[in-house]
Amino acid sequence: MRTASSVDGGSDGHDEGVLRPGLEGVVVAETRLSEVDGAQGRLVIAGSDVEDLSREVGFEGAWLRLWGAVADEAGVAQLEAELGAARVEAFDRLSGLREALRATDGMDALRAGVAHCSVHARAGERAQAVALTAATAVYAAAWGWLRLGLGPVAPDAGLRHAEDYLRMARLQATPGARVSEVEARAMDRYLVTVIDHGLNASTFAARVVASTGSDVVSAVVAALGALKGPLHGGAPGPVLDMLDALGDSGAQGIETWLGDELAAGRRIMGMGHRIYRVRDPRAAVLEEAVGELARAGVGGARLARAREVERAAERMLARRHPARALRANVEFYTAVLLEALGLGRQAFTPTFAVGRVAGWCAHVAEQRATGRLIRPASRYVGPMPARSAAG
Ligand code: COA
Repeated sequence: MRTASSVDGGSDGHDEGVLRPGLEGVVVAETRLSEVDGAQGRLVIAGSDVEDLSREVGFEGAWLRLWGAVADEAGVAQLEAELGAARVEAFDRLSGLREALRATDGMDALRAGVAHCSVHARAGERAQAVALTAATAVYAAAWGWLRLGLGPVAPDAGLRHAEDYLRMARLQATPGARVSEVEARAMDRYLVTVIDHGLNASTFAARVVASTGSDVVSAVVAALGALKGPLHGGAPGPVLDMLDALGDSGAQGIETWLGDELAAGRRIMGMGHRIYRVRDPRAAVLEEAVGELARAGVGGARLARAREVERAAERMLARRHPARALRANVEFYTAVLLEALGLGRQAFTPTFAVGRVAGWCAHVAEQRATGRLIRPASRYVGPMPARSAAG
């Protein structure tokens, strides 16, 4: 069977019929939203490097840039107010959703909650994106409480989106207790860091649905389904499981544990990436954010340990796959950061969606503007009917 790697390894437009099961290197969209340079380890989001964007612009500013809007003080303040009002509206709809949001898995709950959103087509794409961004945060946060049989924390429309999400989502003795400035900043940096990332699996899923002319809610529901998988957004919980399993083993213990995992054919979660051939730049941004928190006395216990495990995993993966760089990806330090912020590991993937939903909605608008149905081909390998002798 002809496959991309067996034929030419690249996409030159003259490879019709070549099988590319993971669509590597196949370009199906032009986007002004983000650019992932896997060789250099560079991520540009709406014209800025992710390192700069996450330091200089908050979630609202990054959200505006995805829509090509100026992220000045007035624009950011207006979006803050719009998102705040939309969070309150989403919360008001919760009473009809309580059963659906009691699901054991946070992504199942989020998918059910978002599926119930009805955004009016006449509201316009930007307003629909505001509604879905707000609803994702409110339902991801509410699920944690409802699952425990407790009442969810109501939004505070006067707060910035990241701060309010963390305040609502954190399961603590005093529900809805204030979030410190340093914690709010860390959550903001996280949401900006994951806001968009080229044509990743969930964004592609959203664009495929949008290309059929379907609505943005359906596109976001499809994206949530894709994000749930452990090869995409479901890895940070298992990263903490790994750190727990390693306990306080020394260097030799870490190597033995990782070696056993690899020998058993299991993947090391938080390591490797389809595109990056160097360390995922988002891992560095989030590692820095964890460091900032630790210096302010928040979390920090895991940081040194996580670094040690990352180095050991890199060494072992390099030995096993010398031709393929397998380095830390965004999920590795996501796990450490979100744990430091007081979120449980089951809330990690829903929290990823709280940031990424902004990218999905912008991609949906961009895809719709092309008017082109995404419809690749498959190669039939099943039996053929016997040809009739007649005729
Ligand atoms: N641990 C161990 N081995 C890994 C690995 C990991 N994390 N990631 C890749 N590999 C191995 C594969 O088993 C494969 O080995 P083989 O050639 O002997 O079969 C080789 O490296 C190439 O992997 P491939 O499946 O082609 O890579 P991909 O581009 O499809 O995978 C990921 C990208 C992200 C799916 C993969 O690296 C992975 O599963 N990582 C762990 C999950 C994770 O952290 N996901 C979050 C992504 S942001």
